[in-house]
Amino acid sequence: MSAPSTVLVTGGAGFIGSHACVELLDHGYELIVVDDYSNSTPQALARVERIAGRFAGALYELDIRDRRSLSAVFDRHPVDAVMHFAAFKSVSASVRQPVEYYDANVGGTTALLRVMQEHEVHRLVYSSSCSVYGDAGPGALEESTPARPTNPYAASKWACEQLLADVCRRRPEYTVLCLRYFNPVGAHPSGLLGEDPRGTPDNLLPYVAQVAVGRRDRLRVFGTDYPTRDGTAIRDYIHVMDLVEAHRLALDHLTDAPGMTVYNLGVGKGSSVLDVIDAFSAACGTRIPYEIAPRRPGDVAELVADARAVARAWGWRPTRDLDTMCRDAWRFQRLNPHGYADSARRTQAD
Ligand code: NAD
Ligand code: WQD
Repeated sequence: MSAPSTVLVTGGAGFIGSHACVELLDHGYELIVVDDYSNSTPQALARVERIAGRFAGALYELDIRDRRSLSAVFDRHPVDAVMHFAAFKSVSASVRQPVEYYDANVGGTTALLRVMQEHEVHRLVYSSSCSVYGDAGPGALEESTPARPTNPYAASKWACEQLLADVCRRRPEYTVLCLRYFNPVGAHPSGLLGEDPRGTPDNLLPYVAQVAVGRRDRLRVFGTDYPTRDGTAIRDYIHVMDLVEAHRLALDHLTDAPGMTVYNLGVGKGSSVLDVIDAFSAACGTRIPYEIAPRRPGDVAELVADARAVARAWGWRPTRDLDTMCRDAWRFQRLNPHGYADSARRTQAD
């Protein structure tokens, strides 16, 4: 079976999806992008077009749970494979709104699968998360580590994995690559694309970047009493450009084996919160102010990938280090202090 050439990308305007669109356009793929902009803006896709120098095939503003509209997209375009990024991703919001999270993440995935089935599209790259491992303890986590999700967001991602595994077990025509991301950060090196969360950022890197640019006073370091080398929690940060390169390779490897295959996408190296503060301070040229705060409920001491399986299978390894992640994240924040809202303002003023 030949490698796919037309890819439908759900959630293509989001942080990871927009970077994936650039990567795929740069490598000659035709794209059909579907997004309801519930956590993004069309400006991100305008930037994608600017970087790639060509239009992303077709763009549709729709909620993937609207099966009639999604089906019309599949009617209109031949689709070889789907990259499924669309989901809600805030752990804290998922605790407050579990029903909405299951509806968006599991409901979105079942709707997509039904439409794919109707249109005989059987190849899928799925965005999963290291959060499915829960509090697995110290040491690099292999894909075989039992899943123990500890919040509704993680449980919804795990439910989708189980759904996809069931589909693959019963329907041999399906091939699914399920990629468990660790902590994706960084930005496109142009400074045009990056992470632009709505409201107060939940995640460390966007928060630090907003402190650096003067939008917030100081970072709160959640916990300095973890059993780690400096007492702060350790994570496996991976540059979004490395992550999306792996997605492009996934398209070449979708037909390597039937059924579903799961890979961790991480660097395999842990960095503490204080490591991130140091690296970001060096990148932006000022010391990031911070205060010590209690542990954030639900946080674990350490989450680091064993990323050897994907390296063995595809010969792929991430190449960008924490300094590069911080430099690129800072470039995006410096050039877009208010995120994509800056370009919206500029366009209105033009
Ligand atoms: P994001 O919120 O920036 O992007 C998600 C995109 O999907 C947004 O553009 C949003 O508008 C869109 N969307 C959401 N629900 C939709 C729906 N029902 N219909 C159509 N569009 C919809 O998030 P991201 O960081 O780019 O994450 C992408 C994927 O990666 C998600 O599935 C997330 O669970 C997974 N993931 C993210 C991280 C992370 O830290 N960023 C880590 C592990 C896994
Ligand atoms: C990293 C570290 C915080 C903010 C989340 C999701 C996970 C996955 C990746 C989607 C932690 C500390 C943070 C702050 C801090 N996403 N921190 N002050 O929690 O590892 O993972 O994103 O799938 O599912 O849970 O990432 O960036 O929020 O936190 O000290 O203001 O930084 O305590 O140790 P996390 P994060």
